[in-house]
Amino acid sequence: MIYPITVFGDPVLRKIATDIDQTYQGLEKLADDMFETMHNADGVGLAAPQVGLTIRIFVVDLSPLGEDHPELKDFKKAFVNPHIIEKEGEKILMDEGCLSIPGLREDVLRYSTIRMKYFDLNWVEHDVVYTGFTARVLQHEYDHLDGIMFVDYCSPFKRRILKGKLSDISKGKVTTSYRIKVPRI
Ligand code: NI
Repeated sequence: MIYPITVFGDPVLRKIATDIDQTYQGLEKLADDMFETMHNADGVGLAAPQVGLTIRIFVVDLSPLGEDHPELKDFKKAFVNPHIIEKEGEKILMDEGCLSIPGLREDVLRYSTIRMKYFDLNWVEHDVVYTGFTARVLQHEYDHLDGIMFVDYCSPFKRRILKGKLSDISKGKVTTSYRIKVPRI
């Protein structure tokens, strides 16, 4: 099932998501639906608040980048209850986009290396160090679970420039190839 994607201005994107436990019903189906929703929108990552749920799960599929980055060709994972426990290395500037902020890309500084603990869909716990582009995508998705969006990192000056565009997005005045859920104002 393809969910409509929540966009900037929706309060669900500003909430702190909560961990789930093994009694959570339909986890596998939810992950499948999130992958389907993300693929339909040509995204590489999607977090639960983007489908209206304030729980700590996100999905990432970097396999489309496998042609240029062979190490990513099998990287398709769901992260349940992820927690970043270390961030280190230099901070790298790179432009980012987000399915919840269609049509906008801005440079964001991110740590080059993170250590993350998470569960997979079988409730096996993992503790992994990620670097490079993978670390960037994971930090972006992880931020969604804490109510943070990439434009929050822009300077106040830049935010003023983006204000009109962000306001349009929150009113649904934006063209997308996928269905969005416009916040009620
Ligand atoms: Ni995003």
